[in-house]
Amino acid sequence: MFTILAIVLAFSQASVSLHDPFYCFTTDPIHPQNQMFATKVVYEALHGREIPNVSTCTPRKFWMYSRHGTRLPSSSDIRRMIDIHDRLQSSVLRNYDLGRTQLCRADYENIANWIFNSTNLDPDRNSELVEAGCEELRGIAQRFQKAFPNILPKTYNTSEFLIRFTDRQRTQASLDAFAEDLFDEGAHNDIFFEPVPAVDRLLRPHDDCPLYDEVSSNLVEQEAFEEGPDFQQILEQVNKNLDFSDQINFQVEKFARYYYGMGYGGQERLFSNMNCHIMHDLLTYLQSTNPNDQLA
Ligand SMILES: *[C@@H]1O[C@H](CO)[C@@H](O)[C@H](O)[C@H]1NC(C)=O
Ligand SMILES: *[C@@H]1O[C@H](CO)[C@@H](O)[C@H](O)[C@H]1NC(C)=O
Ligand SMILES: *[C@@H]1O[C@H](CO)[C@@H](O)[C@H](O)[C@H]1NC(C)=O
Repeated sequence: MFTILAIVLAFSQASVSLHDPFYCFTTDPIHPQNQMFATKVVYEALHGREIPNVSTCTPRKFWMYSRHGTRLPSSSDIRRMIDIHDRLQSSVLRNYDLGRTQLCRADYENIANWIFNSTNLDPDRNSELVEAGCEELRGIAQRFQKAFPNILPKTYNTSEFLIRFTDRQRTQASLDAFAEDLFDEGAHNDIFFEPVPAVDRLLRPHDDCPLYDEVSSNLVEQEAFEEGPDFQQILEQVNKNLDFSDQINFQVEKFARYYYGMGYGGQERLFSNMNCHIMHDLLTYLQSTNPNDQLA
């Protein structure tokens, strides 16, 4: 999977030095692409492991809304990756040998030495959390605990925490990893997790919103983008660098889908209003002065 993503991303970075015929992804000091996998990037590759300075106020409550950690692609995407990997790799290498690419030698060697290990990339593990994803959540737990030791004590106490999650392998495994590092060893079995409601308007409002379904499945803008000059220029540039364009829209297509189907390019008003329930929960909790409120 990562070969494909890396190539597409590497390409978009290359546009920075479009005119440099000696550009090497391998030695680029500013953008080490080897950890950048678009929407699948591990948080720490971008954010680092630093603990942000907290203000001098005394924290009293902690409210957190987290996504799952890094996960596998969907089953169908995994199948596509397995399917095109060999062709993609050998085609790039062949084109280099024929002098038809702009790849530098070191980049060529990295691609040549790339081994696609499908042991952990099993299509039956649809969107499941990967080990790096567990690590991310452990790291987040450690950093918050260090920053707010008083409201995130290591000793678990049912009446001090309220924990909700959604009914997905990736979110449950993320929460497990987070809780494992947050609390003392062995506390994990005692933790009370709120039952997952049949319709979860708080954490998954998009599951039950026909208007959202309608809006996010409208592909008019996405298709127009893919036919437009920017996208075509990307294809052209990839082609120039690798002499290969087959399947290259794989990830770019996904960016466009997120951007128009659930992001700033789409019905922004609807998308942001869908999170009203969660904002309401946050504000109610922070404004409440009830002494029986949980710490977190
Ligand atoms: C935290 O504050 C200190 C002192 O003001 C500063 O030296 C340090 O760089 C800050 N750290 C971060 C992560 O912002
Ligand atoms: C593939 O990954 C598995 C699990 O991480 C590992 O045990 C195995 O040695 C790897 N195979 C190769 C050829 O690198
Ligand atoms: C758990 O937290 C509640 C509320 O803060 C407190 O009254 C109780 O003593 C705590 N229990 C233990 C075992 O620390």
